[in-house]
Amino acid sequence: MTRNKYKVYGEVFDDFTLQTLYRLADKGYFEVIEGVIATGKEANVYRVKKGDNYLAAKIYMTLTSEFKNMWQYIKGDPRFMKVGSSKHQLVFTWAKKEFKNLMLCEGLGVRVPHPVVQKKNVLIMEFIGENGVAAPIAKKLPPEDPKEWYNTLSAWVEKLYKNNFVHGDMSEFNVLNAGEPVVIDVGQGVKREHPMAEEMYKRDVANLKRWFSKLGVDVDR
Ligand SMILES: Nc1ncnc2c1ncn2[C@@H]1O[C@H](COP(=O)(O)OP(=O)(O)O)[C@@H](O)[C@H]1O
Ligand SMILES: [Mg+2]
Repeated sequence: MTRNKYKVYGEVFDDFTLQTLYRLADKGYFEVIEGVIATGKEANVYRVKKGDNYLAAKIYMTLTSEFKNMWQYIKGDPRFMKVGSSKHQLVFTWAKKEFKNLMLCEGLGVRVPHPVVQKKNVLIMEFIGENGVAAPIAKKLPPEDPKEWYNTLSAWVEKLYKNNFVHGDMSEFNVLNAGEPVVIDVGQGVKREHPMAEEMYKRDVANLKRWFSKLGVDVDR
């Protein structure tokens, strides 16, 4: 990636994020940032290209994020006790946490985007989609076989819980429909030692019931 190309994006990214993107591109993780897939309150997700392959880059905003929200999911997690509380540091830790959570989920057989690399506020992962078109969230494209999805997602939530982990924001907004369900947005996920873990687990279970009962699945069976 040439510096010229970066200039295009200079308007979108702060200097600091640009530096991080330069480093990752220099190391060969990607060549071009092609466009935005989604924008959010805390992060934007971009499609990036490496050779003929696409990847997704989730870039956390370091200036405008809702830090207070993030902090509560970090401070009770034994993995991240010593985190500095500066704004930047907090966002880096969040990105690192999301990366580690993706690895953890993948290791337990939960289908998530494969995590590739995380540096500072940038997380690069597998692009979920076909021919460069990102898979829609399940809210937009409901599953063809809701019962099968319900069983799969419930089993994943249980598997994670049994292995000491809770996603914490499981819903039709954080599952992509790529034919099969792909769980995303795991940054808030916590270990069971976290004081909110139990409550988050119950909420995940309740959210799945709410979502799939709307789709006609008998969730109490
Ligand atoms: N790996 C990915 N592949 C394709 N699209 C993705 C990927 N990760 C996220 N997205 C898209 O970006 C959106 C926001 O990502 P998400 O992780 O849910 O962040 P937020 O914290 O903003 O909710 C998702 O709804 C989805 O449309
Ligand atoms: Mg989300």
